[in-house]
Amino acid sequence: MSRAGLTREVISKLSKDFEQNGYAVIESFLSTDEVTKLRDESSRLIREANKEKHLDAKHVFGNENNARSDYFVTSGDKIRSFFEKQAVDLSGQKLLVPEDQSLAKIGHALHCLNPTFKTVTTSPKVQDVFKAIGFGAPTVAQSMVIFKNPFVGGEYTPHQDASFLCVEPLEKALAGIWLALDDATEENGCLEFIPGSQHWPLARRFVRVKDESDPEKLLQWTAPPKEFEASQFVKVPVKRGAMVLIDGLVVHRSGANKSEKARWIYTFHAYDKSKARYMPDNWLQMIDNETFTTLYNC
Ligand code: FE2
Repeated sequence: MSRAGLTREVISKLSKDFEQNGYAVIESFLSTDEVTKLRDESSRLIREANKEKHLDAKHVFGNENNARSDYFVTSGDKIRSFFEKQAVDLSGQKLLVPEDQSLAKIGHALHCLNPTFKTVTTSPKVQDVFKAIGFGAPTVAQSMVIFKNPFVGGEYTPHQDASFLCVEPLEKALAGIWLALDDATEENGCLEFIPGSQHWPLARRFVRVKDESDPEKLLQWTAPPKEFEASQFVKVPVKRGAMVLIDGLVVHRSGANKSEKARWIYTFHAYDKSKARYMPDNWLQMIDNETFTTLYNC
């Protein structure tokens, strides 16, 4: 695959699969060199996070104190690291795993503030993907490295990405790109989708409430989670370097990593600014930096 972009055959299959299922895969989307650069930069960011030794509840992903903390709430336009729940002993202020397996994720403005991640996010082949699905002005609102490290990497329960990044109108206006930095398998927590669920309505949203005086209530869900049958999901294992394109409405999840093999990924989400507006009550807002990045305008 050339640096200049994707072939016509790849683009045609991508748009057909995406239209039908709400997700689509391109294997070998990233070169070995690109994967190595993204992995090396992730490792450097892990070392930085551990140097700061913020083994505090608000720096632990998924912890109640984290979701309500200023550290999380203001992370939309910054690069911040979040420790894995199972990887830290907060009372003893120590790691329970090796340093390079300690983080759950880094987010949410790598695409703009980190040159290594910016290069991949804005690359011609990424632009080709958005052109293939008809985006007139794909605008990246957030980016994350998600680590599912051996035995400690937690599950991501069924969700629609639009719950976190709602735009109006929503149909065909929000999509995620998910890049495998390791082989993603059924054992280490590959993606799982309900094909066709991109046609379902948005079930609930994660929003900032208007009254910001009570930090405990600043971020809220608008409805309880929906239940799904395990049999509704199709598992999508992919090789290191693969790209998975994800419709903002398709229901997906990924299991915990029960294996000894890590499953690192880089993911970012873009909305089509040419036809949709970013909702002012989404949890993720720019606070200090102008990090929303429009890849092209046509
Ligand atoms: Fe997701």
